Amino acid sequence: MSGKPRVWISRPTFPDVVARLDEHFEVVEEPHEVKFSSAELAAKLADCDAAIVGLKEHIGAAEIADAKRLRIVANLGVGYDNLDLDALTAAGIAASNTADVLNESVADYAWALMLGAARRVGPAERWLRAGQWKATEFTQWLGMDMRGRTLGILGMGRIGQAIARRAIGFGMPVIYHNRSRLPESIERECAARLVDKTTLLRESDFLMLVLPLTAESRHAIGAAELASMKPTAMLVNIARGGIVDDDALAAALAGGKLAAAALDVFEGEPAVHPSLLALDNVLLSPHIASASHGTRRAMTSLAIDNVIAMFGFGPQAGRPPTLLNPAALVSSRFDLHSKN
Ligand code: GLV
Repeated sequence: MSGKPRVWISRPTFPDVVARLDEHFEVVEEPHEVKFSSAELAAKLADCDAAIVGLKEHIGAAEIADAKRLRIVANLGVGYDNLDLDALTAAGIAASNTADVLNESVADYAWALMLGAARRVGPAERWLRAGQWKATEFTQWLGMDMRGRTLGILGMGRIGQAIARRAIGFGMPVIYHNRSRLPESIERECAARLVDKTTLLRESDFLMLVLPLTAESRHAIGAAELASMKPTAMLVNIARGGIVDDDALAAALAGGKLAAAALDVFEGEPAVHPSLLALDNVLLSPHIASASHGTRRAMTSLAIDNVIAMFGFGPQAGRPPTLLNPAALVSSRFDLHSKN
């Protein structure tokens, strides 16, 4: 290849972090957040050797049809339901995510949402800003206590575990449901007990969703699941829109079948179900659980590490550190160890 390989970055990130690419790559970073059509995405991907993308870029067979030079798609997110891994692997294109660097920030935010909704921070602040605080009433703005209440976690990967560890300080017993049981040492450290999904739904006072969106987990929480929860319970979704049936959730919240919800993600976001917008017993936030200064920079840096390694540069040359589809390297059209 003549000249430097080109890296396309689908959104503005952090110039000083991206500068690490300059030695070996030509970098083209979009100056604005744009929702690209499939055809626009295909044109962008056809014109680069590596792409750093985010969750709003859905990349499958159609988008890579003309991407003859593309070697790696590095996703700015731990979840990668926006990537069709089979299509990428079949084309010999590597994919990576930003696993682990965001665990603690996301766990912090999960608690921020849960506590905020429990203590009604959102409506109380709106009320204050609207100039309605004329007197302090002793029995106004009563919320939920945490201590002694059961925290249920659906999906007990590293983020779920980080959330569970924080529960110890709040004096909350933790139950979890996961595809597989955690090693006993981790269960002990998180003070968490494995239960089946039915028990999780029935016993949780706060139900935290931390699982990836897959065909299997779509609408894992629908009308039937909501009906089996305590009417005094709260649902917290920091995972992905689509895991919860938002229609059913809005109905349960409006009908008093569920006390509250705290949501960072939505079906069809950035659109939010209009009935959820109208309810005061749900705290809504715009998909920002990983959005701390340090973590968003670390995510960018990890995506860059993956690109650099893919092109045979840096200490991890040839082994993108958070590669999702090792099979793509086997079937790759490219000589992965060439220095271009
Ligand atoms: C954010 O939603 C992520 O998957 O990192």
